[in-house]
Amino acid sequence: MKISIIGTGYVGLPTGIGLAELGHDVICIDQDTAKINALKHGQTTLYEEGLADLLGKHRQTGKIRFTSSMKDGILGADVVFLAVGTPPHPVTKEADLQYIFAAAKELAQYLDGYTVVAVKSTVPVGTGDEVEALIKTVNPKADVDVISVPEFLREGYAIDDFFHPDRIIIGSDSERAKAKMAELYAYFQDKTQILYVNRRSSETIKYASNAFLAVKIHYINEMADFCEQTGADIDEVAKGMGLDKRIGHRFLKAGPGYGGSCFPKDTAALAYIARRHGVNMTIIEDVICQNAARKKKMAHRILAAVQDITQPKIAVLGLAFKEGTDDCRESPAIEIINELLSHHVDITAYDPQAISNAKKILGEQIRYASSIDETVKQADVLAVLTEWPEFKNLDLNRIGQLMAHKNIVDCRNMLDKQQVLNLGFTYACIGWNCRKKNK
Ligand code: UGA
Repeated sequence: MKISIIGTGYVGLPTGIGLAELGHDVICIDQDTAKINALKHGQTTLYEEGLADLLGKHRQTGKIRFTSSMKDGILGADVVFLAVGTPPHPVTKEADLQYIFAAAKELAQYLDGYTVVAVKSTVPVGTGDEVEALIKTVNPKADVDVISVPEFLREGYAIDDFFHPDRIIIGSDSERAKAKMAELYAYFQDKTQILYVNRRSSETIKYASNAFLAVKIHYINEMADFCEQTGADIDEVAKGMGLDKRIGHRFLKAGPGYGGSCFPKDTAALAYIARRHGVNMTIIEDVICQNAARKKKMAHRILAAVQDITQPKIAVLGLAFKEGTDDCRESPAIEIINELLSHHVDITAYDPQAISNAKKILGEQIRYASSIDETVKQADVLAVLTEWPEFKNLDLNRIGQLMAHKNIVDCRNMLDKQQVLNLGFTYACIGWNCRKKNK
């Protein structure tokens, strides 16, 4: 099938490359010409495991192409995916739909023959109705169905998630559109559940799922605070809880609070939509507020570890909002660093992939190191802020020798507590307090 994808970000690009791998003819459209030129030359514009290899492969097979021209991208398409950003409004936090509407208006002019326009961007309930009305206004003769196909890819695992989804949701009442999507996703027919629902339910499923996961993370973080006061260990508690199939292990990892371009934005947008509809979502409202406060709390935990030192040097491992990505949007690490900077400390940070994106936010306020050794040299405390696998097996003997003080605050519970303590470090982590344990 001929597929057009508008938007080559963290959703559009992996989706396009995944569909090309399934054998479809894909053309990705983006108005950012620099991005399109890079992609045309086989350079990936974001870091995602496996993406570069598949991009290289399908530039050869010709299954994926790139263009900045909406006309060239849309003509002849069977399915057009809208995968543009829906950033939060700076004040109200509602999803800003200007890019969706602009793309819908423009693509409408070039629709020829029956086309399914599938909204993949995360949008408030009812947006599909507005997109359809807009297309019909611009091009009253268009033979089109607008459907909702929400995206559930996680950054850092996008390619794997594309090929192994827990479910595919298709929101439409049109039998023609459903048949087209069944053809598009034929590969998944006997591998995963394809659920057909109405468009508004589909739009809601996306927000409801992300908000639920954010609540789950916040719940385990609150339980971690409880463990710190009671001598329990959150990792053991989460393991014990997760064995109950009704609860499950995933998204029970306590940490510095959730971040990224999705959970903070989508919980805020959901709360806004709910308020507009007169529904009081107290759980979501509280989680948003507590999650923001948690990052400040983490910064103060790091400051507490160096409270006796004047002009402390802080070493930071991790800048991305999670492992496996170069994305720093709403990264807990960045928010923690910003709070630390307001206390005039000296910071050196390292991240395997995210330094260039972190620089765009933090500029020259901190130093960026190119290795772990360089980061920890002469530091008074080491703060682990992102869960990169390479931070799991740190050479702690060497790190202890390089640091000015053997002091670690592990906000991702990555290190083996007993080993760290045996090596003579002062150690603070999440949801476990060695002083309480020894009482
Ligand atoms: C999230 C959802 O998991 C995807 O299903 C969805 O498609 C995506 O948003 C989206 O809406 O586009 P993503 O933001 O890439 O994916 O990352 P997650 O793996 O969900 O992590 C989000 C945040 O929660 C990170 O800061 C992570 O460190 C944190 N987290 C996650 C925890 O603190 N504990 C956990 O157990 C899991």
